[in-house]
Amino acid sequence: MLEELFGVAGKVVLVTGGSRGIGLAIAEGFVRCGARVYLCSRDAEACALAEKELSQYGEAHAIPADLGTSEGRRSLADAITAREDRLDVLINNAGAIWAETLADYPESGWDKVFDLNVKGSFFLVQALVPLLRKAATAHDPARIINIGSIDGFHVPHHETYAYSSSKAAVHQLSRHLAAQLAPEKITVNVIAPGMFQSKMLKGTVERRGEEAVLAPVPLKRFVEPADMAGAAIYLASHAGSYVTGAILPVDGGTATTL
Ligand SMILES: NC(=O)c1ccc[n+]([C@@H]2O[C@H](COP(=O)([O-])OP(=O)(O)OC[C@H]3O[C@@H](n4cnc5c(N)ncnc54)[C@H](OP(=O)(O)O)[C@@H]3O)[C@@H](O)[C@H]2O)c1
Repeated sequence: MLEELFGVAGKVVLVTGGSRGIGLAIAEGFVRCGARVYLCSRDAEACALAEKELSQYGEAHAIPADLGTSEGRRSLADAITAREDRLDVLINNAGAIWAETLADYPESGWDKVFDLNVKGSFFLVQALVPLLRKAATAHDPARIINIGSIDGFHVPHHETYAYSSSKAAVHQLSRHLAAQLAPEKITVNVIAPGMFQSKMLKGTVERRGEEAVLAPVPLKRFVEPADMAGAAIYLASHAGSYVTGAILPVDGGTATTL
C-alpha cells in the first residue's frame, strides 16, 4: 500500500540546484526511493561531489549549467533530452537571494534574482514540456514542483526586495502554469519552505542568532531535509496525482497560523 501511494521508483526526476541545501535533500530522498535523478548547479566540482555522494544510494547524474542564462537552460534541456525519452518530475529548486538597503539596492540584484528564480523556472518548463508530455498520463501525470518560499506570502525581516517579490511571482506563475498544463496531464505545484539551514540562510542565522530566527516559527525548529524530501515525494507520487496549482507551506506553521 505504501509503495502504491508514495512510490517513485523508476521515475526520471530533475532537481535544479541539487548540489547542496534543499535541492540535495530532495534529490537524496528520490534517489533513496529508487528514482533516476539528474541534478544541476553551476559549480561542476560541487555537482560531481553530490553525484558521488548520492550514487551510494542509487542512480544520480550531475549536469552542470547556469540556469540564470538561456544558454545554460538550453544545454541542460538538451542533455536530458539526449539521455531520456521522458521526464516524470521537474523540480525547479535553484534559487538566488540578494539583500541590500532600499537606498542601495542595485538593478543587478533584481536581474540576478529574477533571471534565475522566475525566468529560469519558466524557461526550463518551456524547454522541458515536450519531455514531460511523454511521461504524462491521466492516472500518473507528469509533475512540475517549484520551490517558492514563505517570503512570497509575508514580509521578511531583511531587505530582500527582489527575492520576496520573485517568490510571490513563482507562486502565481505556478498557478498560471497549472491551469495551462492540466489538459496535458501535467501538474504544477509549489512547496514554500520556511527556514532551512543552508548556505542561503547562513548569514541570517549568524547575524540574528538561532533563537531570534526561530521566534516566529510555531513548531520552533528549522526545516529538516526529510521535511523537504517528504513533501516533494508526496507531490510526485500517486498520492499527489490529483493535486495541482497548490502552494504547500512546509514551515512549521509560520505562514499558516500567525
Ligand atoms: N534556505 C531557506 O531557508 C529557504 C527558505 C525558503 C525557500 N528557499 C528556496 O529553496 C531553494 C534552495 O535554496 P537553498 O537554501 O538550498 O539554497 P543554497 O544552499 O544556496 O542552494 C542553491 C542551489 O542552487 C544552485 N544555483 C544557484 N544559482 C544557480 C544558477 N544560476 N544555475 C544553476 N544552479 C544554481 C546552487 O549551486 P551553484 O552555486 O553551484 O550554482 C545550489 O545547488 C531556493 O529556491 C530558495 O529560494 C530556501
